[in-house]
Amino acid sequence: MYGEKIIQHFLNPQNVGEIPDADGVGVVGDPSCGDYLKVWIKVEDNRITKIKFKCQGCPAAIATSSVMTEMALGKDLNEAAEISAEMIEEALGGLPEGKRHCSNLGADALYEAIISHVFGGSARRGSETSNSSPDENHRQA
Ligand code: FES
Repeated sequence: MYGEKIIQHFLNPQNVGEIPDADGVGVVGDPSCGDYLKVWIKVEDNRITKIKFKCQGCPAAIATSSVMTEMALGKDLNEAAEISAEMIEEALGGLPEGKRHCSNLGADALYEAIISHVFGGSARRGSETSNSSPDENHRQA
């Protein structure tokens, strides 16, 4: 069962879209369920001034991506890179068991976007996702 905050972010995800002239881009996917997330960031004075995402995934993947963008916006890159899956889950008031891996997408894609900005390339943080069953109710945000 999803909590109220998860449902709010799923039904009204924040910062959906792309940034054509992004300073950093991160893309991650979860092979166990097929969900994936792409994140674009704009950076000024070492701070995330704009962030957008597109996600093809379950309600929890979309909600965690949305709340991650709210958490990252305005943070300096060091602070933003510290945003973890656990922090994202906590910001949503918890995730149902079996959906906890969904918050990895947001944390990992954000980290990749930051790395791509800093180093001009890509480096995976390498978090392992669970082998949970895919959710039936996938959509795109
Ligand atoms: S990210 Fe895999 S089911 Fe949500």
